[in-house]
Amino acid sequence: MSTILKTEDLKKSYKIGKLDVPALRGISLDVEEGEFVAIMGPSGCGKSTLLHLLGGLLSPTSGSIIIDGEDLAKVSDAQRTDIRRRKIGFVFQRFNLFPTLTAEGNLKLAEKIHLGNGAKSNVNRREILKMLKLEDKMHHKPLELSGGEQQRVALARAVINRPAIILADEPTGNLDTENSEIVLEMFKELNEKYNQTIIMITHNPEAAAVCSRIIRMRDGHVVDQ
Ligand SMILES: Nc1ncnc2c1ncn2[C@@H]1O[C@H](COP(=O)(O)OP(=O)(O)OP(=O)(O)O)[C@@H](O)[C@H]1O
Ligand SMILES: [Mg+2]
Repeated sequence: MSTILKTEDLKKSYKIGKLDVPALRGISLDVEEGEFVAIMGPSGCGKSTLLHLLGGLLSPTSGSIIIDGEDLAKVSDAQRTDIRRRKIGFVFQRFNLFPTLTAEGNLKLAEKIHLGNGAKSNVNRREILKMLKLEDKMHHKPLELSGGEQQRVALARAVINRPAIILADEPTGNLDTENSEIVLEMFKELNEKYNQTIIMITHNPEAAAVCSRIIRMRDGHVVDQ
């Protein structure tokens, strides 16, 4: 096994007016390729902040993030974007679907971003849509989908190009039991079949139970991993 993601003394403060408000106070983590990790902890402890940093969506105040051997702090913005596109699928706490595009349009856009125009992922798309039971919803726009369906489209979009690392911020947070099971089943299958590394924030002990490891956070620190 090899380390696919590593942070060293990672810190992040948000500026509010003249104040620096610390959200992460020094996080050191190692995640091995093929791990399925849960991040748990009380609201406001810094879980989403950590995930956004890992995904290159935010810059740290200090400390390092190494993705597959590449230090995000030491590459250019363009390279960081490229690493993110090639290696990471991000599932947001809020869905962030394009409201004017259908479900299919949202997925095709993601494929285009990831693969360029010669998209070769029809096979992936069919498999993912089946896993998520979305096959007959492809022509709906987000507002014509239920919250659970929107969440599943957002998930499909994040995993469609088979990223080595999937970062998911409460992917089952707004879902009922049945939808949650569909989503967790998909993660498990991707993890086992394609060895994709998954880091998932969750408040749900049942969701955490399918993971191979739980990282617990409190007040900007990792208290147990
Ligand atoms: N853009 C921002 N500007 C200022 N403060 C922020 C910003 N985003 C988050 N914070 C603060 O940083 C802290 C950590 O927030 P974060 O969203 O990482 O928490 P969380 O663990 O994901 O919580 P939840 O479980 O409620 O989603 C909180 O105190 C929050 O108020
Ligand atoms: Mg959060």
